[in-house]
Amino acid sequence: MIGTGYVGLVSGACFADFGHSVIGVDKDAAKLAALTRGEIPIHEPGLDELVANNVRAGRLKFTADLGSAVADAEVVFIAVGTPSRRGDGYADLTYVYEAARAIAKAIRNFTVIVTKSTVPVGTGDEVERIIREANRQADFAVVSNPEFLREGAAIADFKRPDRIVVGIEDIRAREVMAALYRPLYLNRDAVMFTDRRTAELIKYAANAFLATKITFINEIADLAEKVGADVQEIARGIGLDNRIGSKFLHAGPGFGGSCFPKDTVALLKTAQDNASPLRIIEAVVAANEQRKRAMARKVAARTGDLRGKTIGVLGLTFKPNTDDMREAPAIPLITALQDMGARIRAYDPEGMTQAKSMLSNVTFCQNEYECAQGASAVVIVTEWEQFRALDFVRLKKGMVQPVLVDLRNVYRADEVTRHGFIYEGVGRGRKS
Ligand SMILES: NC(=O)c1ccc[n+]([C@@H]2O[C@H](COP(=O)([O-])OP(=O)(O)OC[C@H]3O[C@@H](n4cnc5c(N)ncnc54)[C@H](O)[C@@H]3O)[C@@H](O)[C@H]2O)c1
Repeated sequence: MIGTGYVGLVSGACFADFGHSVIGVDKDAAKLAALTRGEIPIHEPGLDELVANNVRAGRLKFTADLGSAVADAEVVFIAVGTPSRRGDGYADLTYVYEAARAIAKAIRNFTVIVTKSTVPVGTGDEVERIIREANRQADFAVVSNPEFLREGAAIADFKRPDRIVVGIEDIRAREVMAALYRPLYLNRDAVMFTDRRTAELIKYAANAFLATKITFINEIADLAEKVGADVQEIARGIGLDNRIGSKFLHAGPGFGGSCFPKDTVALLKTAQDNASPLRIIEAVVAANEQRKRAMARKVAARTGDLRGKTIGVLGLTFKPNTDDMREAPAIPLITALQDMGARIRAYDPEGMTQAKSMLSNVTFCQNEYECAQGASAVVIVTEWEQFRALDFVRLKKGMVQPVLVDLRNVYRADEVTRHGFIYEGVGRGRKS
């Protein structure tokens, strides 16, 4: 498993748990040192135990030496990062190609090389070309097996996926991939075999569709606010229709995270290069971009002039149960509040270490109540479980002005206003 980040570490530990022998390879010395000490460098529920159990059982090892890990492997996964390329938004494939070149030099027998990283359509062809160029004798097949796990629920998603997409061009890879995933589908045929380019595009289409759903309900939320309707009930009312489905219909501050922002933009680049515009996705990207700063204006509208005022921000990570701060909506929101003259206090149960390197002039606090001290408004940005039952009497005590801006619609207005708060959610225009 090349790359032991959110995807590589979870996938590697789960494959080991199925009984396979897994070697995790990473070039990040600090990450490897932590893993070797038995420490998990990321926050993902259940992962520490899963890794520890499988290391103890001898099925999971870690190394910096890609060559030795790959030499006798039947399957090599590439699970390295594919971030947005600085300046133009294309997927940066530097790490994927670097891994491919290193793998090429080390393989000895027939090897199935699987791209698990999210990569633009056609990358499998390029990986195949790179490997052939680097090692003319190599006997291998390049497979696309995109990953659909969600951070925060990654182990359950990996072990009980809705589907496993496998794109192959060489029939020999089919049997190997089927055997690898067999422990997962005792009862049903969860593996969908297709061709490589289709598999690559399935991943982008899936993420773009989910991002569209979120953006759709966010825009409906804005309209609901204007016309005096409630987006929560609209989401329920449409979500109960099976053709629509209730998931990903939660209005909020806009999508963020390590995948949707970069993948939607990368998909647009593929579309442009192929002269096949994706107008809906273009609109999704633009609407989501504008939304984050719009949330700061929402805070200001309830708080009044922000100059010199303190705002408490609860939740920094792009979603609960992760420490991942990549493209978190909290970042542009905080910057916009600072631009308006506000001082920021912030608290997050897991994200503050990462956040400290990404934000400046923020006072990081020990808990929710310390965060509210001296604040003219408290803003819930990430719906961590522990923010779902706030002690409003205690929260209000330290505040200069009792305003709660709930960007995740965690509360009903009456639960909060009865404690003397001014409450503002998202898309809840109904006067009740
Ligand atoms: N994070 C998610 O929820 C998620 C879900 C589905 C798909 N994906 C995709 O999976 C891929 C990986 O994402 P991630 O979040 O795990 O990234 P990550 O940044 O957490 O991890 C990538 C790891 O690869 C290592 N690496 C890079 N080049 C290497 C090399 N040549 N040899 C060894 N190690 C190397 C890095 O040091 C890092 O530890 C991306 O393409 C992403 O889009 C991510």
